[in-house]
Amino acid sequence: MAKFVIKKCPPLKGLVKTCGSKNAVLPVLAAAILTDGASTIRDVPSLSDVLTMEKLLESLGVKVNWDKGRDVISISASGKLHSEAAYELVSKMRASFLVMGPLLARLGEVKVPLPGGCAIGTRPVDLHLKGFSALGAHILFEHGFVSAKAKRLKGAKIYLDFPSVGATENIMMAAVMAQGQTILENCAVEPEIVDLSNFLNSAGAEVKGAGTDTIKINGVKELKETDHTIIPDRIEAGTFMVAAAITNGDITITNMLADHLKPVIAKLKEANVSVFETDKGIRVDAGEGKKLKSSDIKTLPYPGFPTDMQAQFMALLTLAEGTSIVTETVFENRFMHVGELKRMGADIKIESRSAVIEGVKMLTGAQVKATDLRAGAALMLAALTAQGATEISDIYHIDRGYCNLDEKLNSLGARIERVEDN
Ligand code: UD1
Repeated sequence: MAKFVIKKCPPLKGLVKTCGSKNAVLPVLAAAILTDGASTIRDVPSLSDVLTMEKLLESLGVKVNWDKGRDVISISASGKLHSEAAYELVSKMRASFLVMGPLLARLGEVKVPLPGGCAIGTRPVDLHLKGFSALGAHILFEHGFVSAKAKRLKGAKIYLDFPSVGATENIMMAAVMAQGQTILENCAVEPEIVDLSNFLNSAGAEVKGAGTDTIKINGVKELKETDHTIIPDRIEAGTFMVAAAITNGDITITNMLADHLKPVIAKLKEANVSVFETDKGIRVDAGEGKKLKSSDIKTLPYPGFPTDMQAQFMALLTLAEGTSIVTETVFENRFMHVGELKRMGADIKIESRSAVIEGVKMLTGAQVKATDLRAGAALMLAALTAQGATEISDIYHIDRGYCNLDEKLNSLGARIERVEDN
């Protein structure tokens, strides 16, 4: 299995471009199940999670043609579709569960393996299923699978107990072809929800209010082919921002929407890093020799501080002067990176859902493991500035959600080598 060997690098400098958003493209590809005709999806990031979604959709009878050179997927769900998703594919990636809503809407029946636990928590799907049930589906659990059946779904008023991103997307996709109106309350307001709604509306759906906590959907009979460009990946952009900060670098990020990263930018400024818009993109200047300052963060659903940036920001705070407190409220077990950062010399104590970080003068290279996608990115960031060499294993987690992160960081002056371990 491949690993990264990373040596301490000089302050990062230069221009870097982010790809299309992983968390936006996965639901949009699932939503293509609802459309008749061949749709075009642009700015598709080259990620192994997208490959998993491609394989899953193909196994369901959807035709997918991915032109990786142009970052374009042509997708058609016009042929005969299957209603059962295979365990091997769904168990690889939790976002596979997003095919449930569109298959139910299109075929009137669907059978999907229940996603198991994952490194960052148990992550149930009760809110997705409650939504389908409110739309009139009959839900059954059998042998590790969940199935749903309904001749035609009927619009309903649904209140989500928690603004779950996946549940909002899955219920939205089920409701676009339901009879009558669906009102989804206390739903997630992430930019990826807005992107999905834009895709659906461009295909003929009637979705209003995406990006607010109440979405109204008037059911339509069918969706047509469309052409859609995926929004930039805000978490990839945030990761580059921290890379500049932790190396006291000065980089400019293109294809980034600063509006999507307000809390991360605010916290970087608190940590003594300058962030400003230029005509080329967003410039992050941490100033050579400037000291990083401590800062407290608390993860929350959007527009709060994203849980997907918590690990990377913690890597930065390990080197900030003073005490920082990082509180994780979205997932119950998302501190797997703490043990690995401590192996690199960080001073962190976990107290319930918070991590208390005392800034240290420097980190030191060590052998560490990427326990999940963002934890892996955090270790890469820490390694950029650690004395000596850091070896990160299990980097397949990082490849799931970042396009060529190693190559992009190297283009800014990092010293990362991808080594095949035999
Ligand atoms: C999505 C993102 C993930 C991000 C997360 C939170 C994708 C593909 N993934 O994941 O990167 O970290 O949002 O921003 O977009 N929950 C329930 N019942 C449910 C559904 C969720 O209790 O039916 C809980 C989860 O266990 C978790 C919390 O709600 O504690 C948030 O999960 P959710 O917003 O659903 O995250 P995902 O859609 O899985």
